[in-house]
Amino acid sequence: MSLARNFAGAALAALMAVAAMGGAAMAQDGDKIVVAHRGASGYLPEHTLESKALAYMMGVDYLEQDLAMTKDDQLVVIHDHYLDRVTDVADKFPDRARADGRYYVIDFTLDEIKSLHFTEGFNLVDGQREQVYPERFPMFKSDFRIHTFAEEIEFIQGLNKTRGKDIGLYVETKAPWFHKQEGKDISKATLEVLRQYGYTSKDSNVIFQTFDYPDLKYVKTELMPKLGMELKTVILITGNDSKETYELVDGQWQPYDFNYLLDPAHFAEIAQYADGMSPAYKMLFDLEHTKLGHIVVNDLVKEAHAHGMVVHPYTIRKDALPEYVHNVDELYQAVLIDADADGVFTDFPDLGVGFLQKQQLHQ
Ligand code: G3P
Ligand code: CA
Repeated sequence: MSLARNFAGAALAALMAVAAMGGAAMAQDGDKIVVAHRGASGYLPEHTLESKALAYMMGVDYLEQDLAMTKDDQLVVIHDHYLDRVTDVADKFPDRARADGRYYVIDFTLDEIKSLHFTEGFNLVDGQREQVYPERFPMFKSDFRIHTFAEEIEFIQGLNKTRGKDIGLYVETKAPWFHKQEGKDISKATLEVLRQYGYTSKDSNVIFQTFDYPDLKYVKTELMPKLGMELKTVILITGNDSKETYELVDGQWQPYDFNYLLDPAHFAEIAQYADGMSPAYKMLFDLEHTKLGHIVVNDLVKEAHAHGMVVHPYTIRKDALPEYVHNVDELYQAVLIDADADGVFTDFPDLGVGFLQKQQLHQ
């Protein structure tokens, strides 16, 4: 599938707005994209290379990478900036937790991290490990390891060579604000690795995403120009209760108010540094008037398109459906067809691709 096409879903006004911004040409066909969320994470432990290979063979358009930095400045592919939800770090390094009880990626070297077993995610309940999604791959079975960002790029580029395809990267810097507090610039490190592997322009098959909007502005206006790069960017949006992002206000780190990113009055400004938005899928719906079998769509996608931005909501999981759908296809229908999102993050990429193929919106 062509890359640029994925950013072509917006209306003519959107295309004109992008052209006015000097953005890359956007292809015209109507296909929508499937992003393998942490790989085919519904079937194999998230972010393992095995889950990326499986997703690749399911026909996705993009494979997602979440990134955190190690003590020795390596980028590793892991969803959290701590290790304890998906590894045996508490068994191997019991005295290395911080005061909050968490084991931070940034406190461990790459060698130490590679010595850990990577597993299906779990929570601690009364001191016992309880699998988050009980129907998924069993915890601590087989032998999975954490890998670096460079290793994943080489893996995907290798598969692109052997399969004769051009599947993209959808890269998220995790908690840039936290890495800054620790004296590390994760966005700069990420861009440097991408540049090393040939991803430098909007024609490169990569999308750079983050929840940290002040950092995305910095990436767009300072870092990329300094490094001679201009990649496609997407701003992630979550609820304020997630405490996902903090910003410096008068020298103090304050929780970021995500409502700012949901107000169309700000979309023209946001479009200056983001080619797209990635909200939680429920943000596309009027939840007050939505009920089982009757989903009411709001104007978020329409407004984003009118400002030249694509919309790739997250995350569709067939084993964690909202109360207003009977099955996963109803959710794909609501997000991709009724709300007209341009693509979707999903833990079950085969189901996303299959749904779109039935609609003739995917190869
Ligand atoms: O990056 C899109 C989606 O992955 C955002 O949620 O928390 O799974 O990274 P999260
Ligand atoms: Ca992510």
